[in-house]
Amino acid sequence: MKRFKDDLYYVGVNDYNIYLFESQFRVPNGISYNSYVLMDEKIAIFDSVDVHFQDEWLNNVLEVLNGRTPTYLIIQHMEPDHSSSINALLDRFPSLKLVGNNKTFDMLKKFYRKDYQNEMIVIKDKESLSLGKYNLTFYFAPFVHWPEVMMTYVDSLNALFSADAFGKFSTLDVDEKWEEEASRYYFGIVGKYGLQVNNLLKKLDGLDIKMICPLHGPILDNNLSYYLNLYKDWASYRPTKKGVVIAYNSIYGNTLKAVMTLKSYLEEENINVLTFDLAREDMSKAISSAFVYDRLVLACPTYNGTLFPHMYSYIHEISERNFQNRKVGIIENGSWGVIIARKIKELLSPLKGIEIIEPVVTILSSMSEDNEKQLKELSINLKGE
Ligand code: FEO
Repeated sequence: MKRFKDDLYYVGVNDYNIYLFESQFRVPNGISYNSYVLMDEKIAIFDSVDVHFQDEWLNNVLEVLNGRTPTYLIIQHMEPDHSSSINALLDRFPSLKLVGNNKTFDMLKKFYRKDYQNEMIVIKDKESLSLGKYNLTFYFAPFVHWPEVMMTYVDSLNALFSADAFGKFSTLDVDEKWEEEASRYYFGIVGKYGLQVNNLLKKLDGLDIKMICPLHGPILDNNLSYYLNLYKDWASYRPTKKGVVIAYNSIYGNTLKAVMTLKSYLEEENINVLTFDLAREDMSKAISSAFVYDRLVLACPTYNGTLFPHMYSYIHEISERNFQNRKVGIIENGSWGVIIARKIKELLSPLKGIEIIEPVVTILSSMSEDNEKQLKELSINLKGE
């Protein structure tokens, strides 16, 4: 438990044991499930935590309450990492009112199979609720990242309780650059919804936000324009870093050799290069990097007459997150029937603003001298100018 500011307390928990967030994203440094208590004449609690941590969370809450009874639980997001301890709090405080919108309560009933008729306070977009000294105003944020999501602005704290937005992976005691795990989190979880994130940012424009309290990761209370501007870029699919991401598969090392040759040519030109073995490394880092950096190369051998399976997954993952407006190079490899480049172009063709950078490099089993020249040419064309 930590008093953060004035009457605002942090009562969230760190999950050090989780292996896969949302059963798919590796989180080597765990994750935090954030929850907050705002003490006033009426007391509001913002969100609960994953059910596996409900006892720790309840202890944190009880310590802050110090014998008082909370009036409201504000339910900003129904994903179970934030909602699955709601019933434990209700059991402890039967007079508690649950504050949410119509979609919140529709989901609450479906997830937890209770009626909640006596507990619900259904609010509308931009409706306010007074705690006494503090006034809460709710801003619906559909699809950031579920349809029921809403955020809360507390005026005299100048605090935005931002649900999943502005969150990141890792527990709160990990010292790391915010942007790295925040971009992997953003593009992994919210990346598909750039339009909705932009709509939200427009909606919040004009609020005097001095503190952002997300549901994962640290409270942000310094240099907020940095975070807000990053979100504007990410939501608009604008690259924020210069460099070439090479996502590859290699079965026996021949495609890898081409990747490393291209990398060395690019580095000779002082171009930043990141390589990702899609079969062996965490694909979510390769996904977020495709969006953060301004150029991408896909290098893939033929397998079962088509793309290697991880490359299929990768192109699917970036496509469904609206990958767009990027330069893309292609290296294909095969011993017979090489159709990788054609297939990749087909898969990328529905995406906006994809420019294929020539030459497409076709390797027949292992690199030839001609391939080396083509890779050099590709590196020059990727450099641009
Ligand atoms: Fe942390 Fe969309 O839940």
